[in-house]
Amino acid sequence: MSSPIEQALDLLRAGELVGIPTETVYGLAADAANPAAVARIFALKGRPADHPVIIHIAGAAQLQDWAKDIPAAAWQLAEAFWPGPLTLILPRQPHVPDAVTGGQDTVGLRAPSHPVTQELLQRFGGGLAAPSANQFGHVSPTTAQHVADEFGARLRLVLDGGPCLVGVESTIVSLIGERPKLLRPGGVPREAIEAVLGQELEHHTKAKSAGIRTSGLLDSHYAPRTRLITGSFEQLLAEAASREQAGEKVVLLHHQNWSDALPAQPHHQLPGDPVGYARTLYATLREFDTQGFDTLLLEATPAQAAWLAVQDRVSRAAHGRLEN
Ligand code: TXA
Ligand code: MG
Repeated sequence: MSSPIEQALDLLRAGELVGIPTETVYGLAADAANPAAVARIFALKGRPADHPVIIHIAGAAQLQDWAKDIPAAAWQLAEAFWPGPLTLILPRQPHVPDAVTGGQDTVGLRAPSHPVTQELLQRFGGGLAAPSANQFGHVSPTTAQHVADEFGARLRLVLDGGPCLVGVESTIVSLIGERPKLLRPGGVPREAIEAVLGQELEHHTKAKSAGIRTSGLLDSHYAPRTRLITGSFEQLLAEAASREQAGEKVVLLHHQNWSDALPAQPHHQLPGDPVGYARTLYATLREFDTQGFDTLLLEATPAQAAWLAVQDRVSRAAHGRLEN
């Protein structure tokens, strides 16, 4: 019997897809140099073809295989944060398939730190195109079981690397143009990147203003199927009461310790720190998505910098927000 990594290598070389663990979320991987294999990713995910996919590489030594005109900032960031949860957008080499870049002249590259996928990449030698391993628009997977739940028998192999340690996607930084831009907050804090670059990152929160097609910038993304509403704990208590009055089954998902005010209806406490919260957010949304609730009521997260990535995902996952 060959090992799971050997089975994965055989499938990838044959142009098939494999579910892979990373430190952020699980990916749906294909040989980045094989356009037919990359097309299978879009078919399985139900993702529009003009959305670019990140190429995963073992490390900075492979940067020039896929990117050209690489600025010093890219080498500095790779040195500081790779392998790890940072994706760099750079000018692409001409041979990078349009299926990967969505027809743009740029390419997204990242070296993941998860040991299973590091070994896979080192033995594969090439690059692995991989978006998060979920149906388009749905919550990203943070365990091998989540990936199996998304695709079932349509995906032949998922490498099981355990639960993801970061739990939200990589930070995406574009090094195209005059100033570096933060396209998506994620696993590496914005301040850490700015410290290495010695300058601030530009940050637009809407796809339109950035003029860039990034699916992570669509408003409804990373969403559970059950209606999800965010607001302050007090607002959610009132919302829960009126929805229950109307016959709904609701659950309160909170991260602060409200033990004195805890209501009679179902509730669940997420970790109160941003790192722990990020690690469990998607698994929690998935868990409560399958329990027959009509509405999930999620306590709004703090506005502080350390919560930026979590805040971004919560606002995209929510179908509604209770305003003050
Ligand atoms: O943590 C992660 O980044 C995970 C794991 C699997 O590595 N991957 C991930 O992939 O989140 P995906 O496809 O779900 O999100 C990648 C984002 C998309 O919003 C895509 O549009 C953007 O990266 N992206 C990829 N290449 C790009 C490019 N050349 N220019 C602008 N955005 C790009
Ligand atoms: Mg995704």
